[in-house]
Amino acid sequence: MSSARLSNYRAALKFAEQQVSRLIEKHPNYFPIYTTDGQWHHDGELWTDWTGGFLGGMMWQFHLRSGDSLWRERAEHYSRLLEHRQHDRNVHDLGFIFLSTYLPWYELTGDAPLQAVLVQAGRTLAMRFQPQGGYLCSFVGQQSLFIDIMMNVPIIFYAAIETEDADLMKTAETHCRTTRDRLVRPDGSTAHEGEFDVESGEFLGQTTHQGLSGDSAWARGLAWSLYGFSKVFALTKSPEFLEVSERNAGYWLAHLPEDKVPYWDFCADLNQPPPWGAQKDSSAGAIAASGLLDLANQAQDATRAAAYRQTALAMLDALVAPEYLGSSVPNYEGILRHGVYHTKKNLGVDESVMWGEYFFVEALTKAVRQLESQS
Ligand code: GLY
Repeated sequence: MSSARLSNYRAALKFAEQQVSRLIEKHPNYFPIYTTDGQWHHDGELWTDWTGGFLGGMMWQFHLRSGDSLWRERAEHYSRLLEHRQHDRNVHDLGFIFLSTYLPWYELTGDAPLQAVLVQAGRTLAMRFQPQGGYLCSFVGQQSLFIDIMMNVPIIFYAAIETEDADLMKTAETHCRTTRDRLVRPDGSTAHEGEFDVESGEFLGQTTHQGLSGDSAWARGLAWSLYGFSKVFALTKSPEFLEVSERNAGYWLAHLPEDKVPYWDFCADLNQPPPWGAQKDSSAGAIAASGLLDLANQAQDATRAAAYRQTALAMLDALVAPEYLGSSVPNYEGILRHGVYHTKKNLGVDESVMWGEYFFVEALTKAVRQLESQS
């Protein structure tokens, strides 16, 4: 099993390299978010400009795995194009943008100016902090807390740790505790958004933009929470954050369908057709697979750790099959099919999405490294 698995994963990574090469040769310096009819270039709405780091991020993954200098050259170029966004106050996504690009670049070189970009991005993101409610607000407004921010708050922890800034650390920890208390439910499921009274900080309730409803369990949001809290545990070593990630993982494992690829919302009525009913979101599966591989190394309980690892690999086995891999469709430009961006706005539904591509590559790279070390 493990040698067939290893060769399937390696083949999927090779295909991913081909598709990224094809994209940047066809559309140089272009940062797509989602495909339309399997093609990256179109005039569709961005909703918000948050995925720029995933293209360069894949290039860094390819370089770090193979040592190929062409990928490094491309990775540096596509990272540098994002440098100005260290000051971007319009999005809550600076972790997505810089932790996948400037962090691997800095870790490879130790160049102080690269680290300065990361620290500045962390400080910029921290300016979204709402002291009354104790959270970093989303791009939609001061009243809004998104579960996705759990994947971005690690850049504030990073900046706090590197500069020994206790206030920055407190901001990041407070955001995580508010998210845990307001968006993560006792059963481990999550809401996409929480709304607050801006003046008093009073919590008004759970709601959503991209999920089925305020009380549903949007699959990608749950994946962001699982992986985000695991990343925060890795940075802080505080067991309170590991507990949240494991609670999310418990829900994930208990509700995953037989074929191991999540539907877009765990509360969707599967008797209804897509997009509101039985629509898969492969990108949520890719994010969770990568997060579960890390969580398996963090969990104290050996049985739970084994379940996380086995589930992550089973999910990847499903995603490398022809149903999900773009190689099975002639002229398809994406790597991973059947992702979803925004159902209500009908953006990127049943298409390839940039974060699906990135986390698929990241999870496969981690899994291959692990399998190679065992063989
Ligand atoms: N904005 C984050 C997401 O669509 O998942």
